[in-house]
Amino acid sequence: MQIPRRAQITARRVVAPKRTKRATSKTVASPILKWVGGKGRLLEALGQRMPSSFGRYYEPFVGGAALFFRTAPERAVLGDHNGDLINVYRCVAHQVEEVARKLASHKRQHSEEHYYQVRESWNQRSKKQSDVERAAQFLYMNKTCFNGLYRVNSKGGFNVPMGRYVNPSIYDLASLRAASAALQKAELYNAHYSEVVKSAKAGDFVYFDPPYHPLTSTANFTSYTSCSFTEDDQRQLVAVANSLAERGCAVLLSNSDTPFIREIYKGWNIDTVMCGRSINSKATARGAVAEVMIYNDY
Ligand SMILES: C[S@@+](CC[C@H](N)C(=O)[O-])C[C@H]1O[C@@H](n2cnc3c(N)ncnc32)[C@H](O)[C@@H]1O
Repeated sequence: MQIPRRAQITARRVVAPKRTKRATSKTVASPILKWVGGKGRLLEALGQRMPSSFGRYYEPFVGGAALFFRTAPERAVLGDHNGDLINVYRCVAHQVEEVARKLASHKRQHSEEHYYQVRESWNQRSKKQSDVERAAQFLYMNKTCFNGLYRVNSKGGFNVPMGRYVNPSIYDLASLRAASAALQKAELYNAHYSEVVKSAKAGDFVYFDPPYHPLTSTANFTSYTSCSFTEDDQRQLVAVANSLAERGCAVLLSNSDTPFIREIYKGWNIDTVMCGRSINSKATARGAVAEVMIYNDY
């Protein structure tokens, strides 16, 4: 099947005053967190299906923000249900030097004992901790915990053990500053995705990367927060995507390639792409899996 190159399709929308043209490699920042479901491996395929220019960039399930950093839009609206994640992005956007200083201190102290002390302190959620302290703790644990997982128990306590890294790269100042510059151009919301996209208008681009529909009834990729994303949630997302498309937004979604997802997006363009995943804890079950990219005509 021939892949429609959205970048070649002439936009039929009202031209917003300041449109983003996709970034060149010189201007590119990259993700500062390891995130389950990260889109690093699908950036080419996503880029081919994005409009060549657009008004505002929306990513309401932002996670590790791989596509946002690659695109480096002039104006963006980003959101996630995970408030700790959004706090990291806010602090990196506006207090990057303070975050870096705290990370340098964690790097100096890094050891098994230090990791579990930080995890303990994180889970106590003391009101005395500043947002920057929490952002640095989050980044430190993300880089040193097992597989960069974010997993919480039913009470919201972070319960991932320390990973077995010899010399984990806890932070890189140049990358943090590049991310900070990109994030300063974004509005950041800790909110449900449907709230985040309410302000989207004709000519804007919306990328939805929701928690994936499981390939099997036992697979579970939805442990980013203590809530899960059900089939009803997937159906509600279709309704939101339809209303954005009707409003004149360019909408792109990714999800797993299951009969259910194909059924609920009937009428949309659906392409299959193969993606290497390392999410499964069993090494034998890792490997390429089919995902779908779903988009409207723009
Ligand atoms: C598949 S991940 C996104 C991955 C991201 N695109 C990347 O490159 O790393 C899904 C994200 O959606 C967030 N999420 C889950 N349910 C949500 C909801 N109802 N509203 C907003 N965000 C939600 C999760 O916290 C998680 O960060």
